[in-house]
Amino acid sequence: MEVFVVPDADAVASCAAREVLEGLARATARRSGARPPASGSPSTAKGQAGAKGAAAVGPAVSGPVVLGLATGSSPLGLYRELERAQGEGRVDLRAAHGVALDEYVGLLAGHPQSYREVLRREVGDRLGIDDARLHVPDGAHDDEASLAAAAADYEETIRGLGGVDVQILGIGVNGHLGFNEPGSALTSRTRVKRLAASTREENARFFDSVDDVPTHCVTQGLGTVLSARRLVLVATGEAKARAVANAVEGPLTASCPASVLQWHADAVAVLDEGAAGLLANRRYYDDSAAGL
Ligand code: F6R
Repeated sequence: MEVFVVPDADAVASCAAREVLEGLARATARRSGARPPASGSPSTAKGQAGAKGAAAVGPAVSGPVVLGLATGSSPLGLYRELERAQGEGRVDLRAAHGVALDEYVGLLAGHPQSYREVLRREVGDRLGIDDARLHVPDGAHDDEASLAAAAADYEETIRGLGGVDVQILGIGVNGHLGFNEPGSALTSRTRVKRLAASTREENARFFDSVDDVPTHCVTQGLGTVLSARRLVLVATGEAKARAVANAVEGPLTASCPASVLQWHADAVAVLDEGAAGLLANRRYYDDSAAGL
């Protein structure tokens, strides 16, 4: 795993945007049959990461690339950076597909906190990705069989798109990835999961009260997430430090679902100082990022 530690949330957004666009540039080339650009050049030095941002890189990204989308607060700055890169004409994501990680069960279509609506507002409308190319699991069912069918359909949708080129990820304070709560099978595919009580409490900030937060979700499984070609995790703030340390340096275990990142050959973690605060191998990450 590559780990970049940058000073603050703005630097996380620009560094992560650069990593996402690098993966999407490879996808653009691969999907158009051209030779993909090389990855992981020493120019990704951490010292330059914050200042340089997406603006100085500008890989060619266009066409029907497949971008995996997380919701929550962590990726919002990164989405703004992608919007900026597109506004400056450096990338064109209008033909991209957006693939959500998860969706709540039981919210009515059009509910402002349903992840379809959140991703429409935060990503689709801003990048010109229309609804038909914004793929979100269908959680608007109240029986198990329909939800199981919706989960299976979602796996099929991802397969039909040729897989996810770059998956953007946040991490829960309890180490969840997507809504794969601790104890989730490391090889799981998209399915219905119960949300942990602590996750519902954290997400209560988006609702009137914790009682309004759905109890279940349809989430990509950890095996589904691992099928993406590149994973880019963003995390900020001290509250995430323990989960980040467990994910990056702890054992690969279902007790910390985000530790599956260690199993992926092209995973990148972009952290601010707060989120990186408990990493033991910090010096190594800084040296690697500086190209030493
Ligand atoms: C989002 C998701 C979650 C969040 C995580 C962190 O689709 O599946 O894993 O990424 O709960 O949320 P924030 O970024 O709000 O701290």
